[in-house]
Amino acid sequence: MAIGGIFRRKSVAQIQSDHEHGELKRSLGALNLVLLGIGCIIGTGIFVLTGRAAAQFAGPGIMISFIITGTLCAFVALCYAELASVLPVSGSAYSYSYASMGEIVAWVMGLLLVLEYGLAASTVAVGWSGYLVSLLKDMHIVIPPELTAAPGVAVKDAAGNVIATGRVNLPAIVALVAVTGLLVRGVTESTTVNNIVVAIKLTVVIAFICIGAFYVNPDHWTPLIPPQVPAPPEGTPMDIWSQIVRALAGIIGGDSEVRFGVSGLIHAAAVIFFAYLGFEAVSTAGAESRNPARDMPIGILGALAVCTILYILTSAVLVGIVPYQSLDNPAPIALAVNQIGLPWFAVLVKIGAIAGLSSVMLVLLYGQTRIFYTMSRDGLIPSVFARVHPTFRTPWVNTILVGVLACGAAGFMSLDKLADLSNVGSLAAFGIVCATVIYLRITSPGLDRPFRAPLYPLVPILGVLMCGLLLWTLMLTEHTRGFFLIYLAVGTVLYFAYGMWNSKLRRGILVTGHEAEPMELPHKGD
Ligand code: ALA
Repeated sequence: MAIGGIFRRKSVAQIQSDHEHGELKRSLGALNLVLLGIGCIIGTGIFVLTGRAAAQFAGPGIMISFIITGTLCAFVALCYAELASVLPVSGSAYSYSYASMGEIVAWVMGLLLVLEYGLAASTVAVGWSGYLVSLLKDMHIVIPPELTAAPGVAVKDAAGNVIATGRVNLPAIVALVAVTGLLVRGVTESTTVNNIVVAIKLTVVIAFICIGAFYVNPDHWTPLIPPQVPAPPEGTPMDIWSQIVRALAGIIGGDSEVRFGVSGLIHAAAVIFFAYLGFEAVSTAGAESRNPARDMPIGILGALAVCTILYILTSAVLVGIVPYQSLDNPAPIALAVNQIGLPWFAVLVKIGAIAGLSSVMLVLLYGQTRIFYTMSRDGLIPSVFARVHPTFRTPWVNTILVGVLACGAAGFMSLDKLADLSNVGSLAAFGIVCATVIYLRITSPGLDRPFRAPLYPLVPILGVLMCGLLLWTLMLTEHTRGFFLIYLAVGTVLYFAYGMWNSKLRRGILVTGHEAEPMELPHKGD
């Protein structure tokens, strides 16, 4: 087979028929899409990682980090909106890649989406665990601290003193087992449930901003960008996981994580990138949108705009109440509320966070199973991932496997590592999405584009560059770089060992006995 075969493309007609045979109802309007987006976006990023990013990297400058990342996401969102209007189908970035740049890029996208969805679900589970443990403590129920964090992670009390070293994050595992069970039974969120959860999350966040604003001490905002300090020395105690990865990655280079200063600000922007993940989930609802050409851009950009404003305000209030040095806490928003002496409100924040994070976990894990399902139906991964349960009508084996992997990651990896790896995968995926827009504009200029990213080619080019910058920042950390490169290398070997040979597209070509020209994407007037 010619090596060019790895670039074979799936036709748009094929993708649409693959996805639309499910007879999904086109019932979602623009507002529902915005709410769907907000439902996936607001989660561990704002409720937990903001504290870590401020304490370790940006200080009060975290507000600027949110602006930087919000701007990047706006560029990416415009690119997503363009692709979603060309290909209003479920399947998102994986399908876009398959229809444009070809199978090998779709495969790599599949690998990246495992980090963006699967590992992100684990990250959110760890955030969920932090808020649950804190709420249970308020109710005088204490889980042994070593069972609330990954191996080697220091567990601190409210005053910041280390009280134990983690062994396993049990609550995170329990949460993911419950979500996996729901997904096997086929319980996905209805639009109504999503809207209720979004209302709870928005209420908590807006109430925090409005009430917290009265307690802000502007002195805490200065200096806005604390001076840079050297990174923690090599040899800082690490968990087994880090030691394995460090050993594997030793050949690649040293660690150079920067704290504070402008570099720290950029690093924080890369960390809190996680807070924005999910806006692209709107694009996966393409097949259920009433008027995708108009409503998808509104849904994606609207959700992003609302969340960006809320994030900037929340972070400003947070670092205005609590000195940033104290914010490296599993439940920083609740910490701030406690600090202003409103324990009842802290309890509400925790309940709201737990409800909100549950729905994000559900959506992310669901997304992961459906990506594997689609890849399996394309023959790129074994057919067992597409096996449907006779009673529940869900891809149950796939769901259980995804659940087990997510539990392993959540139970035994620290929040920092999970978030960084998820960010790296998502940044690479988003960079490819922006590049896809450029690629299609060049290769298929006559394509029917109901929505066009404005200021072309500036927007996708800035998207690619900013994704590259943040990706590079995260890759400076040794364990992240080591894991990511090894993961991509192993994944690519698997493609050449399995996916390439079992691809249905390839087998279709073999049946007809000749290499068919890939079908063209739909053009204006088709
Ligand atoms: N943006 C989502 C969160 O912060 C994934 O939890």
